Amino acid sequence: MDTSAKREQWLALIAGAADADALAAVDRQLFGQKGEVLELVRSVTSLPKEERPAFGKAANLLKREVEQALATARERFEAEALKRELTAGDFDPTEPGRPWQGGTLHPITIVQNELVDLFQSMGFRQEDGPEIESEYYNFDALNIPGDHPARESQDTFWLDDGNLLRTHTSPVQVRTMQRLTKDGFEPPLRVIVPGRCFRCETVDKTHEHSFYQMEGLVVDRDVSVANLIHTMKTCLRVILERDVEVRLRPGFFPFVEPGFELDVNCPFCGGKGCSVCKQSGWIEILPCGMVHPHVLRQGGIDPEEFTGFAFGMGLQRVVMLRYGIDDIRQFMGGDIRFLQQFSEVPR
Ligand code: PHE
Repeated sequence: MDTSAKREQWLALIAGAADADALAAVDRQLFGQKGEVLELVRSVTSLPKEERPAFGKAANLLKREVEQALATARERFEAEALKRELTAGDFDPTEPGRPWQGGTLHPITIVQNELVDLFQSMGFRQEDGPEIESEYYNFDALNIPGDHPARESQDTFWLDDGNLLRTHTSPVQVRTMQRLTKDGFEPPLRVIVPGRCFRCETVDKTHEHSFYQMEGLVVDRDVSVANLIHTMKTCLRVILERDVEVRLRPGFFPFVEPGFELDVNCPFCGGKGCSVCKQSGWIEILPCGMVHPHVLRQGGIDPEEFTGFAFGMGLQRVVMLRYGIDDIRQFMGGDIRFLQQFSEVPR
């Protein structure tokens, strides 16, 4: 059978389609249910056996050729449609694209991530604790009983059910020790706890009601103040990106004994005295001390056998020193221009 007449006819149909809709109709006519091309291919079964192979081959070649012609015509209509769309109205396809506005990490997050990496490299594990805390973990377990004046300096937001918004990350010290010793764990123990804390403060340049701390706790045999100083110096050197001098002054916190305020030599004047360090050459940077026996006992650890140190770094303070930020309210002020200066893409 000669298929060349059909071939001419079908290719003419495709070539004659004026638009995409007309082409779709041709497609249906040729390849739809009872489509002409398919019918031709199927008609092979009605032929005598000896004619079938030659006819089948010719029919299939033709089918492929028509399919190809349809696809080419379809692509041409699609390209034309896209071109019309792009040049319609006031759309200018030659205008450069808008730059992608990716988010950036908050400066506190940047420094926190660095600190976590650093402490993990020194064998610390990261722990977490609840922001809504019980009175026991926030105060009593830390040797701050109900009538202790230290409660006043950590005035907080109490909830109706007797719980409170934690005033520091120190409650996670006892929580972690309890959880581990319950299962028979024995020191050495090294943990850091980054987290948000709250105090009932009047907000000003240096005070916020919500702020971030990074707690550290190390418990082992024969831990001493020397270990504390070394750890703090290492950490501050990395975070402030320079060599630092530190000094310890006595500081009182009921959950450490002895307790210290650790100062670092002023990064702004190098220790000569300036307005940031109030002419003293030193900046108070983090409270710390040797863990009080009461706290170790609450955590299920024998203070006769083990000693430890703890620190509570104010993250905002470190970030302010590192970037030279002079107003703590910037951190939660929501000013995107402030936040974008610390551009580091989220990881
Ligand atoms: N939790 C104390 C505070 O927020 C800081 C601190 C932590 C002091 C650990 C000593 C040891 O004020």
